[in-house]
Amino acid sequence: MAKDPGRILIFDTTLRDGEQSPGASLNPEEKVAIAQQLVLLGVDIIEAGFPFASPGDFNAVQNIAATIGTDSGPVICGLSRASEKDIKICAKAVAPAIRPRIHTFIATSDIHLKYKLRRKRGEVIQIVEDMVAYARSFVNDVEFSCEDACRSDPEFLYEVIETAILAGATTVNIPDTVGYATPGDFGELIAGINLNVPHIDQAIISVHGHNDLGLAVANFLEAIKNGARQLECTVNGIGERAGNASLEELVMAMQVRRTYFNPFLGRDVNSVQPLTKIKTQEIYKTSCLVSNLTGMIIQANKAIVGANAFAHESGIHQDGVLKNRLTYEIVDARTIGLPDCRLSLGKLSGRSAFKVRLKELGYHLNPEELDECFTLFKELADGKRNVTDQDIELIISEHIQQPEEVYKLKLVQVSCGSTLCPTATVTVQKNDNTEITKAAIGTGPIDAVYRTLNEIVGMPNELTEFSVKSVTAGINGKGEVTIRLRHKKIIYSGHSSHADIVVAATQACLNAINRLISTVRLSELESEKNKPLKSDSSETIDKSGKNS
Ligand code: KIV
Ligand code: ZN
Repeated sequence: MAKDPGRILIFDTTLRDGEQSPGASLNPEEKVAIAQQLVLLGVDIIEAGFPFASPGDFNAVQNIAATIGTDSGPVICGLSRASEKDIKICAKAVAPAIRPRIHTFIATSDIHLKYKLRRKRGEVIQIVEDMVAYARSFVNDVEFSCEDACRSDPEFLYEVIETAILAGATTVNIPDTVGYATPGDFGELIAGINLNVPHIDQAIISVHGHNDLGLAVANFLEAIKNGARQLECTVNGIGERAGNASLEELVMAMQVRRTYFNPFLGRDVNSVQPLTKIKTQEIYKTSCLVSNLTGMIIQANKAIVGANAFAHESGIHQDGVLKNRLTYEIVDARTIGLPDCRLSLGKLSGRSAFKVRLKELGYHLNPEELDECFTLFKELADGKRNVTDQDIELIISEHIQQPEEVYKLKLVQVSCGSTLCPTATVTVQKNDNTEITKAAIGTGPIDAVYRTLNEIVGMPNELTEFSVKSVTAGINGKGEVTIRLRHKKIIYSGHSSHADIVVAATQACLNAINRLISTVRLSELESEKNKPLKSDSSETIDKSGKNS
């Protein structure tokens, strides 16, 4: 059996194979920033680059080796082809690290030997022997990879691996370079290596895989069961073509299904000891950093780190999760460093999720108010994918927390344009059923509306805030207006939404004015009530309570 470190080693190749993603090149500062975050994540080995590929790559590897490859830091590894020139440059680049590793490789499949290398098998064996020994002359930690291992003749593969170990390789890596294997194939291949390579006990078996058939993670999990102890992966699964095996998916699969994997590592089935050294709470942060710096957007439904990975949308699921998370959740979002599972509110959301969100926002509505708000929420959700907390607050403030309607909007009309003087005409109905119509000019249509309303109500105030934003996407979406007025140092707000922003602004302004008037009236009434009765009042108070 291969060497067993007693846990699964995580070899991160985001900065090497990940950076080979089309369009994902990183500058030196960005590489260091990612490497620093990988340290916080707790990876065992960082493959920092391919030093021979370019002076930029050389500098990046050397810089990371010097700054991150400290005593307590991870192993810093550089990639090199099986050639003296490559290995020498690589050795120089990783040298500043306390624990440097050279990772050298050559292809072993007949397809690669015939068309790419144009070499015979015997020649490849000789190169492996010489180049692994050469790498060992620089560092004690040498990894050897058989490129395209999964399409290689297993008998030849065993011979190559044995040669590499005898020449000094401490880790032997089995890459599925073209993402061709199935989990069954991959497991069998690792089992075969363990059985047929005489000195396999002197090296750690590593696996590396691409996701061309979407099987990379599944293949690795099967490899673990058959003795692989190092996984080569990338954050967010970025990499050549369809990408590499995703670090976060592997780590979380091992964490969530620990009791399944424990026996394969010789542990008690119920052992709670983590299978990797990864600090899972750093996963989300790392994923965001890699996505932001590489510009590789994460698909919304990506496992573990996708925007929808913890979003329960359907009413049935939301109801279940609210009753008990275990109904629809196998990973607690907090494990990967997300604040909490958020029930995303959309058109499929049910009443119970809506009620919970209202409670979280501090609203306690009576059943009738809840009914009204839920209907309005559903109407909004029909035209808007995600209903936000602000949308809910708007529904509440527009429909539940409305002040007494002293003035009701009946009509608003504006004329404006590049050659017109902005003019507004507004008709309101007072609560005594009288109608008032006035017109005013302003610096713009909204200012004209505001001046007209002030003419109508005659209550001095100052406009302190006016903001418009779109509630629904698209050119025919709704505009949401928030207005704040100040009267005697007190602020009164009003909100409204409408497809026409002039109507929304007028209504928002009237809401704020109604709030102002109701409050002023209430305080006038209060002070009236508290006035002492005049002792010389000519009024006689009848004991029966009737005035005479
Ligand atoms: O996919 C691959 O084979 C590789 C090797 C260089 C390890 O990236
Ligand atoms: Zn690769």
